Amino acid sequence: MTKNKIILTGDRPTGRLHIGHFVGSLRRRVQLQNEGDYDKMFVFIADAQALTDNVDNPEKVRQNVIEVALDYLSVGLDPEKCTIFIQSQIPELCELSFYFMNMVTVSRLQRNPTVKTEIAMRGFDSSIPVGFFTYPVSQTADIAAFKATTVPVGEDQRPMLEQATEIVRRFNFIYGDTLVEPNILLPDNAACLRLPGTDGKAKMSKSLGNCIYLSDTAAELKKKVKSMFTDPLHLRVEDPGHLEGNTVFTYLDAFCEPHHFAEFWPEYESLDALKEHYTRGGLGDGKVKQFLLNILESTLAPIRERRKEFEKDIPAVYEMLRRGTEEARAVAAQTLDEVRRAMKINYFDDEALIAEQAKRFAQ
Ligand code: TRP
Repeated sequence: MTKNKIILTGDRPTGRLHIGHFVGSLRRRVQLQNEGDYDKMFVFIADAQALTDNVDNPEKVRQNVIEVALDYLSVGLDPEKCTIFIQSQIPELCELSFYFMNMVTVSRLQRNPTVKTEIAMRGFDSSIPVGFFTYPVSQTADIAAFKATTVPVGEDQRPMLEQATEIVRRFNFIYGDTLVEPNILLPDNAACLRLPGTDGKAKMSKSLGNCIYLSDTAAELKKKVKSMFTDPLHLRVEDPGHLEGNTVFTYLDAFCEPHHFAEFWPEYESLDALKEHYTRGGLGDGKVKQFLLNILESTLAPIRERRKEFEKDIPAVYEMLRRGTEEARAVAAQTLDEVRRAMKINYFDDEALIAEQAKRFAQ
């Protein structure tokens, strides 16, 4: 029975994964994996994409491949249920990218909002590496080579998926139905779409030093939660508190589940009741932070412990990646056969072509 559902997603190995990745995508992936409602599921480490803006820092990318693999395993991705692989080890992805480059214009790439922001952030201005500029094309190849139907990613990846859909559509229009248009699968909760950093700044990011990593120790986690940005107007406990822009409450929206109240704070029956008291006044930030800390610790402790186990056998993690990469490569190779046939560049296995030309030249 085929459900025709192929899930695919990946991360750049430029650092350890943080709780923004967790609520934005990782948690959903594990859930999808365990529900089992799919034909195939691929999760990959986008090292080639990471190199597009780290050309002079290959060691950073190399060291973070294993960090991301450990993060994957520790959140519960299971190589028995999903194929975990390394992007650069699949040359078919480069081949497909090269063909796709003819199906998109320079001005369309320039309009991609994600690329625009990233160019500004990196100060590339007029010295944009070509590979970086075209990474949406390479990302389209990642998706199309596996005929992915469902791509669970964060909000920032929406323009990538739009571009991927356009390129696939164009390919199919020119060469006949070969590839599959992907759908984005976004987190369903606004707090999870773009989790702010602990300082309340727009996004959790390594360069801002405002991340909580999945692999942080209990002590690191505690320190970070205790120093989180809340409501600057909430000076005394009696003062009414504000929820808007209050990072502690944004994190509660992303992490708090009904059972956490019974477990950690039975005085309240729901997040709404807690918010109501906070906005009314009379509830101190310290208590709310402690509640958040309890929730985060209970979520992250099992992840941290599983990581410790996997860290004991690094060669086994590489073996898992090698096997996953082999399996993924076979799938990509199959798609590339179909692509070459559709594009009429399958000379050696096109017997009809050879026979027809032989006949024509014999006349
Ligand atoms: N761009 C993604 C990121 O920065 C990583 C990525 C590369 C990806 N190729 C992909 C995600 C294909 C989903 C599908 O995290």
